[in-house]
Amino acid sequence: MPMKLAVCVSGRGSNLTALLEALRGSPLARVEVVFSNRADAVALTRAREWGIAAEPFTSFRDGAEWLTRLKAHQVDLIVLAGYLKLVPAEVIQAYRGRIVNIHPALLPAFGGPGMYGHHVHEAVLKSGVGESGATVHLVDEVYDRGTILAQARVPVRAGDTPDLLAARVLEAEHRLLPQVVLRAAEAGRPVPLTETLSSPA
Ligand code: GRF
Repeated sequence: MPMKLAVCVSGRGSNLTALLEALRGSPLARVEVVFSNRADAVALTRAREWGIAAEPFTSFRDGAEWLTRLKAHQVDLIVLAGYLKLVPAEVIQAYRGRIVNIHPALLPAFGGPGMYGHHVHEAVLKSGVGESGATVHLVDEVYDRGTILAQARVPVRAGDTPDLLAARVLEAEHRLLPQVVLRAAEAGRPVPLTETLSSPA
């Protein structure tokens, strides 16, 4: 039986698409449903184009609504792929160790409240660090602080703008997230990837 995934999205859904492409025809895992806090999220349209159930929450803060929807789709693993709201505490309790998030920087640096989208890349550039990347981690009650499962590194280059850096990190995200999900499907639960991925030279 393939592992059943729910993917939560707030925006365009490029990580969702990368995941769907990587899982195409896979016996290991499949996306059962896509949830969003926004009925107008482009990612919901992407999901429908793939013939996948796409469900905006009536109330994204309502843990009971989440649990009802998760149960209806018999979800094994929740993947936050550009989901910008807090997951209700009841859901974290019910799915502890079975919720992963992708963050566009090398946690534990450049995470926490307010660190999303271009804010992350602006902070990275301002700090002067030589590299950034993507992190996939388990989700617990604290934003961006759960156990790190895998990271992919990319260089920060002279002359980088937040947009240029974001695009480089996004490519790394698209490689990293499917690998973590496929490894989770093999193992039956999310586990750390043994190797840290580097970007191709
Ligand atoms: C990604 O950079 C992700 O790391 C962040 O939000 C962005 C979502 O992009 N949390 P997309 O919706 O997957 O294109």
